[in-house]
Amino acid sequence: MLFSYIFRLRTRKGATVVSWRVNNQEQLFVSKQAIFDGKKAIRGGIPFVFPQFGTWTFGPQHGFARIIRWNLEKAPERLASGDVEAIFSIMDTDFTRSMWNYSFRLTYRLILREKELHFNIAVYNPSKDLTFSFNMLLHTYFKVPDVRRCQITGLQGCTFVDKTREGTIYQETRDIVTINEWTDRIYQNTPQEHIITNVVSGRKMRIQKYNFPDTVVWNPWVGSSKDMSDFGDDEYPNMVCVEAGHVSSPVILLPGTAFEASQILQVM
Ligand code: BG6
Repeated sequence: MLFSYIFRLRTRKGATVVSWRVNNQEQLFVSKQAIFDGKKAIRGGIPFVFPQFGTWTFGPQHGFARIIRWNLEKAPERLASGDVEAIFSIMDTDFTRSMWNYSFRLTYRLILREKELHFNIAVYNPSKDLTFSFNMLLHTYFKVPDVRRCQITGLQGCTFVDKTREGTIYQETRDIVTINEWTDRIYQNTPQEHIITNVVSGRKMRIQKYNFPDTVVWNPWVGSSKDMSDFGDDEYPNMVCVEAGHVSSPVILLPGTAFEASQILQVM
C-alpha cells in the first residue's frame, strides 16, 4: 500500500511520523538507537510537541503529546485528487489532566502528495469559562548526508534565544545559516518559509508554516550526542532539526475558540 511504503506514523503512542519517502528516498532521520517502546519519545521523525516546549515542572520535557496514545479519526485513504489523507486526534484524559488540568481537543490532519507532506493542526478549547495557554511545535528531524553542508534560509534579522549560551538573545546577521557546532536556537518571528539545501540526494527542502511564528534549529553535535542514550555518538552529521513552532510566547486560547496552524514540507 502506498501509505505504508512512503509515509509511516506511530499512533499507538505519540503520533510521530517516522518515515516519509519521496522518489524512494527517506527524508526523515530516525536514530539507529531510537527506542520504540511507547514510553519515551522517538528519537527522530516528527515528534509532536504539546502543550509544553522544553523542560516542564508538571510533566515530561516537550509535553505529553509525543508519548500518549492518539485516536485514529480517519485511516489513511487515497482521495480523488490522488493525495493520501489521515486524521488523528487527542483529547484530555485523567492522565493529561494530572499534568495540565484542562479540557481540550486536538486534531492532526496529514496529507501526503507526491513531493509534499502537509500538516494541519487544530486545538479547541471546549470550556465555558477557562482560558488555557500552550506551546506547540513539530520537532522535525531531517535526514541529511552532512549537516555541515546544509544551508538554512529565512533567518536573517531574526532574534534568537541561544540555549547553548544560557539563553542569551542575539540577532542573526547571516542570510544563510550553516551549522558547524552544537546548535540549539529558538529563532523568533521567522518568515513563513525556510529552505534547507543539501538534504537527501543533494535536493532542497522547503518548509512553509502558518501560525507558527518560531523556528527552532537544533543539532546536538559531538558533546550532547554522548548525553543521549537513544542517539548514536556518530549520527549528528546526518540530521538537522528545523522545527516550526509557537514556543517563545504561548498560544492563549479563550473558552469556545480554536487555534489552527499548519506546515508544508516539500522536496524541491
Ligand atoms: C530541541 C530543544 O527542540 O529538542 C533542545 O531545543 C532539546 O534543547 C531537543 O535538547 C531534544 O529534546 P528531547 O526531549 O527530544 O531530547
